[in-house]
Amino acid sequence: MENLYRIPEHVAVIMDGNGRWAKRRGLPRVYGHREGAKRVEEIIEVAKEAGIKWLSVFAFSTENWGRPKEEVDAIMSLLVEYINKKVPYLVENDIRLRFMGRIEELPEMIKASVKEGEKATANCSSMNFVVALNYSGKAEIIDAVNRLLKEGKKEISEEEFKNYFYIPQMPDPDLLIRTSGEERISNFMLWQMAYTEFYFTETLWPDFSREEFLKALYEYQSRERRFGKVLSI
Ligand code: FPP
Repeated sequence: MENLYRIPEHVAVIMDGNGRWAKRRGLPRVYGHREGAKRVEEIIEVAKEAGIKWLSVFAFSTENWGRPKEEVDAIMSLLVEYINKKVPYLVENDIRLRFMGRIEELPEMIKASVKEGEKATANCSSMNFVVALNYSGKAEIIDAVNRLLKEGKKEISEEEFKNYFYIPQMPDPDLLIRTSGEERISNFMLWQMAYTEFYFTETLWPDFSREEFLKALYEYQSRERRFGKVLSI
């Protein structure tokens, strides 16, 4: 019975399939990203209603720079537009906006929005909405190691190591959702996903509705998490 009511503390999402969604409609890829951004708004709402404390989304990976310039520019403008537009809603709903990734490498325009968004929501505490931007799991580990080396550390524990991540307070994801039928982790939170439950769906991100999100939650609640231990009978 207990599992039926278990709400994950942290849900991570790889929002995949925007390009294919647009292509199927004979539209440019950017239309898919635009529609995808609308789904992000709905998923934040339903996650908050469900009592999820951390929601993280993979918006732009360090590998995504390899896409055509016009698509990269369109995603960046969409992000700035989205952050600027959403901040009042986030403040009103007590949702803290955070970013993780190599933020310092981003264009000035984005960095300014990121800083403003984080500052405006810094005192919000009902939920955390984390946007992974210019992010890669391997880069996060390397950045942590380089900071350790600079500090002259010779040895470290797993617990201490976590303090060097982009958001040290963030708990490991309990559930990862990936849309569009791809069944890969694609360099998202590699360390943090050691015991995460994975949920894959064929649905493309722009079609991922509130109902689909709830379906993923129900599936999570039906799973038995053992963390490498034996089940007690
Ligand atoms: C994956 O689809 C999607 C992306 C790389 C970009 C995601 C960005 C957004 C939804 C913009 C809004 C984000 C926020 C946080 C508001 P794809 O282009 O890889 O699709 P494909 O696999 O079908 O080509």
